[in-house]
Amino acid sequence: MATIKQLFDLSGRVSIITGGSAGLGLQMATGLAEAGSNLVICSRNRERCEQAARILRAIGPEVLATACDVSKPDQVERLKDEVLSRFGRVDVLINNAGRTWWASPEETPLDKWQYVIDLNVTGTFLCSQIFGRQMIKQKRGKIINIASASGLRGKNPEVHNSIAYNTTKGAVINMTRDLAVKWAPHNILVNAIAPGFFLASRNQGRFEERKDKILEEIPLGRSGGENDLKGAAVFLASDASDFVTGAILSVDGGATAW
Ligand SMILES: NC(=O)c1ccc[n+]([C@@H]2O[C@H](COP(=O)([O-])OP(=O)(O)OC[C@H]3O[C@@H](n4cnc5c(N)ncnc54)[C@H](OP(=O)(O)O)[C@@H]3O)[C@@H](O)[C@H]2O)c1
Repeated sequence: MATIKQLFDLSGRVSIITGGSAGLGLQMATGLAEAGSNLVICSRNRERCEQAARILRAIGPEVLATACDVSKPDQVERLKDEVLSRFGRVDVLINNAGRTWWASPEETPLDKWQYVIDLNVTGTFLCSQIFGRQMIKQKRGKIINIASASGLRGKNPEVHNSIAYNTTKGAVINMTRDLAVKWAPHNILVNAIAPGFFLASRNQGRFEERKDKILEEIPLGRSGGENDLKGAAVFLASDASDFVTGAILSVDGGATAW
């Protein structure tokens, strides 16, 4: 029988975090590095990835930092080639890169709708497909999709007015369940984390404008902080979750509990 420390130990593993240069991606990358994993972090801006990699290398792991737009198949294929030539395999994929476009349903421009779909849904699918093929060869792998509490229900427009985003996160949730079923025979476990509101420099302005309304929806009465996603990410990346697949883990201060 393995000990609990062994079950959560990621020493020597290779984990890819898309959008790992900032925000929640960097927080999860930090957690995985602290648990021993080597890392690949990518986003469109290579310099920002390099800056993040310098912070992560100080924790101890090997880190490959590279540019990749996850909505572009040729770039994801190139990322896979880079990862395999550097590490020879991939154990964990966290599909974290994602963005929103704020607009009401009646005013959402079609090109912005398409941008959000291409990144949040197609990007998640492409990375899963391209790295999933490698995981099928390896006969093991873990995929963690970053969905959102906004993908689980309709949202008060005063809190989050983005039909495009909320639609994509609902799609990511069911993509997670369907991939979990389809790839269980290959020993690829697919789960999602549905974060609630996490404060970041990107959404600080909106938070200040809507603070009372946002916090009113969260039973714990605060936004997510710098440590709040690490545990969920390490759990789903590690052997501690080897009998968990197709699950949607809410990390939202209770926002979807009522
Ligand atoms: N913050 C929250 O409250 C919250 C709540 C629920 C869910 N989430 C989800 O958590 C994830 C991370 O959110 P965040 O708040 O940390 O966002 P963020 O601070 O804006 O970070 C997004 C990351 O994705 C990268 N990215 C954007 N477009 C990309 C593309 N086409 N290809 C590759 N990378 C791309 C960005 O880097 P570049 O710009 O350099 O590409 C950045 O590294 C998203 O999926 C988001 O929907 C966030």
